[in-house]
Amino acid sequence: MNQPLAASQADALLTALCDHHTDNISTEPHYLALLREAESYSRHDKAAHMTPDLAPYSLLGMQLAVLHQGNLLSAELYPRLKQAESDTLNWFKTCFDLPHAHFSHGGSDNNLQALWQSRDYSSSGRKIVYASEARHYSIDKACRILGLDLVLIRCDVDDRIDITALETACRKRAPLAIIMTAGTSAAGAVDPIQPASDIASKYQSWLHVDAAWGGALLMLPEHRDSLMRLTQLDSVGFDPHKSLFQPRPCSVYLSRHAPRHSLQTDYLNNTPSDRVTGSYGAEMFLPLWLNLKILGEEWFYQQTRARLEQAQLFSELLRKRNIKTWNGGSGIICFEADGEAFDTLVASGFLSKAKMNQNTVYRAVFAGIRTQAEALFRVLPLSP
Ligand SMILES: Cc1ncc(COP(=O)(O)O)c(C=O)c1O
Repeated sequence: MNQPLAASQADALLTALCDHHTDNISTEPHYLALLREAESYSRHDKAAHMTPDLAPYSLLGMQLAVLHQGNLLSAELYPRLKQAESDTLNWFKTCFDLPHAHFSHGGSDNNLQALWQSRDYSSSGRKIVYASEARHYSIDKACRILGLDLVLIRCDVDDRIDITALETACRKRAPLAIIMTAGTSAAGAVDPIQPASDIASKYQSWLHVDAAWGGALLMLPEHRDSLMRLTQLDSVGFDPHKSLFQPRPCSVYLSRHAPRHSLQTDYLNNTPSDRVTGSYGAEMFLPLWLNLKILGEEWFYQQTRARLEQAQLFSELLRKRNIKTWNGGSGIICFEADGEAFDTLVASGFLSKAKMNQNTVYRAVFAGIRTQAEALFRVLPLSP
């Protein structure tokens, strides 16, 4: 009941439900292929992308969300739902030590939100945004939408922003905002946030951390301190639907600054805040809320540690075979290898390919509880 139905069970259920229709969906080839496609990723050894297994009570949480169609733009009508939302947001506020937070649809929205907020917050008229060459492309989109000028800063060999190059750029032209990535999309590298915060403070620039992928790592009590010390951190975006075992959409935007309320409507009791996300409801947080209530936050930390350990083990197994390997620390392992056999694994969803400093590497993403280093290692075409 708590886990998503297996494809065969979903098939049986739909067949029973659709029995009274003349065209039974379970005989429809596209529908069957869809079920098979979903099931083909329920394995220990498929690690191509950021698609986590779900925490145990997610399905029940989704069920609750479907039953509760409340729209939290009119929160006064749904006090219980609002309370569940606040309880869940409070966890994130504590972990990231930031006072303002809201749920959103994803990391792209959060990056747009951060740059929008930074532009409205600043009276400097600056338009420059600095981000590393390994930033997510949603930063480029956000800059285009907002009319800001994105300048890319080179990365070091491990895909992290070159902090000296960032400082030099700031000295030449102070930016509106600096973007740090905690968990780059390709290599899972974590930019040096603490030195960047000193630079942002010196040049009075907004510091946004795109932790869409790496946020789960930053939330761990053993890593939190390094983030808490950041007095100049202005905003963070984090996607529990990537690395905290949540169904999509579940994303959170946090900020040191209160949102503005510059917009008016003639049909809502309360003025909406300036946020990218429009109407929204339980789907963004009830699965997480329910899992938190039943399992507690420690469960999430343990699962995160477990998947990071699997990633570490996978990189050790590769290194033992003298394969050049990068472990960015947030659950993505990149490695160099030759041969069409590896490309076949990419085509079938075991691995993906990515670019680090213009070089193509293979990439394994440890997003799920299920993904196991040894199982993935066994499918690699390596000589005995
Ligand atoms: C670092 C980073 N930021 C932002 C995003 C965009 O997130 P979303 O797909 O939830 O919009 C991604 C997606 O992979 C990402 O890796």
